[in-house]
Amino acid sequence: MIAGLLAPAVVAMAIAGTAYAGSDWLTGSTDEKLTSLAEIQPGLGTIMIEYSSRFTNLYYAAKGGNWKLAGYQLKEALEIQEVGEMTRPKRAKGLKKFEEESLGALSAAIEAKDATAFEAAFTGAVKGCNACHSDEGFDFIVYQLPEAPTSPLKNTP
Ligand code: HEC
Repeated sequence: MIAGLLAPAVVAMAIAGTAYAGSDWLTGSTDEKLTSLAEIQPGLGTIMIEYSSRFTNLYYAAKGGNWKLAGYQLKEALEIQEVGEMTRPKRAKGLKKFEEESLGALSAAIEAKDATAFEAAFTGAVKGCNACHSDEGFDFIVYQLPEAPTSPLKNTP
């Protein structure tokens, strides 16, 4: 029923789409277009929102015993971190340092499904997050673990 109602609207949008392609806003020379595209890539503020959300959800997944989900969140966090290293090279050193000093222990604890080691690694990592904020001149940005996960995913195995 809903599909029946939606179909004409989708067709109308498809027709309009031929007149206004999604990339019509991208104008100028190829260089100018590349610059425009580069400028809208996510900076560290945007990336950190995803990064911290994954970090929080990783905690609750591990606490709930869904170690696979915790491992997944860590992998995804690293992927978005790499985007940050690319778009904000000035911050790459701090991010790499954090990865080596804090995420390694977290990864090992998740791999071993070791709740005690995980708790210690997580506490250490939070210190690492906030140390970097301080080092980079953002000492007013302090991560604290939210009381509940932000993700709707099931945290038990
Ligand atoms: C390079 C060192 C560095 C590391 C490591 C780091 N951050 Fe950040 N973070 C920053 C910087 C710099 C900002 C400010 C964003 C900007 O430059 O616009 C920030 C901003 C944030 C913000 C605010 C985002 C917003 O705009 O609302 C959150 C939340 C955050 N970080 C969480 C974390 C968490 C959680 C960790 C650890 C898992 C972490 N950060 C690790 C450098 C770091």
